[in-house]
Amino acid sequence: MTQTITVIRGDGIGPEIMDATLFVLDKLGAGLSYEFADAGLAALEKHGELIPAGTLESIKKNKVALKSPLTTPVGGGFSSINVALRRQFDLYANVRPAISFPNTKSRYENINMITVRENTEGAYLAEGQEVSADGETAFSGTRITRKGSERIVRYAFELAKSTGRKKVTAVHKANIIKSTSGLFLDVAREVAAKYPEIEFQEMIVDNACMQLVMRPEQFDIIVTTNLFGDIISDLCAGLVGGLGLAPGANIGVDVAIFEAVHGTAPDIAGQGKANPVALLLGAAQMLDHVGQPENAERLRKAIVATMEAKDSLTGDLGGTGTTMGFAQAIASRL
Ligand code: NAI
Ligand code: MG
Repeated sequence: MTQTITVIRGDGIGPEIMDATLFVLDKLGAGLSYEFADAGLAALEKHGELIPAGTLESIKKNKVALKSPLTTPVGGGFSSINVALRRQFDLYANVRPAISFPNTKSRYENINMITVRENTEGAYLAEGQEVSADGETAFSGTRITRKGSERIVRYAFELAKSTGRKKVTAVHKANIIKSTSGLFLDVAREVAAKYPEIEFQEMIVDNACMQLVMRPEQFDIIVTTNLFGDIISDLCAGLVGGLGLAPGANIGVDVAIFEAVHGTAPDIAGQGKANPVALLLGAAQMLDHVGQPENAERLRKAIVATMEAKDSLTGDLGGTGTTMGFAQAIASRL
């Protein structure tokens, strides 16, 4: 049976990197069929809203979406589309691999880790953001639940099990933020006890940042709360050579959305200069998710081989290739 996925071509460099990605997926013979849906500026112009109901229905029906970056217009009271999608489908796990590739500007060569970030609670609450009338004091809350912590930590351990990874590090600040970070750590310990075959490590977030820069190869899977995960996963993207190589998955119970971590790159949009690899790696995560791990691995190997050969690399990787030229070079190695 062919699997249908929802495809959002997005804004800025979105359509270019999506065309390149679908080209490679077709050559891979993944047997996917695509239902195109609009979101972002493209949707605002066509339908008068940033996320049309038809797009949400398509994602709900297909359960899997591949999404290019979207522009949330600044001003006009628009709230982030990505945050809205996370809320709508309760996409509680943000899964961001950081894996070394050859010939990048990274200082490291042997990083192979995944950050699993809690995506729905923690410090990123919409409610309760307050600024006093005189503008002198501001307040925002953090909410951690047992249920939210349990499902994210369990996700991290299950991911370790299914991918043959050996260690899960829970990153926290329970020594100071005893209530919220303390609850997260307590739950992490409880869940870890159910997975004796996988090593469990606890690390305070500031030390984790230092360790990541000094000795990133010691990490395997990091699991952490929303704010720490947001920061750490960007740090990890930097460790392996930047945004052009960093994919992310947003995973819920029913629905999963796969994407590149970077934005719409307005400075290079429409010029064929964008690196398609981040979205291609997002597509590889998607192939794992839909039960095609062999195809995911073939795709990753073709990307590595193309970068190894420095064939048609885009400008961000020091080459002069185009988005589609790079994709063709990758497709030719499948
Ligand atoms: P950005 O990631 O779009 O760009 C930052 C820098 O990285 C730019 O110099 C850009 O040219 C470069 N870059 C990004 N992706 C690249 C690629 N694939 N190949 C080569 N170079 C690449 O971040 P910025 O400028 O902060 O945001 C631009 C817009 O993107 C904003 O409207 C923002 O709201 C949106 N955005 C959307 C996201 C999403 O939909 N997931 C995530 C982040 C930002
Ligand atoms: Mg972020």
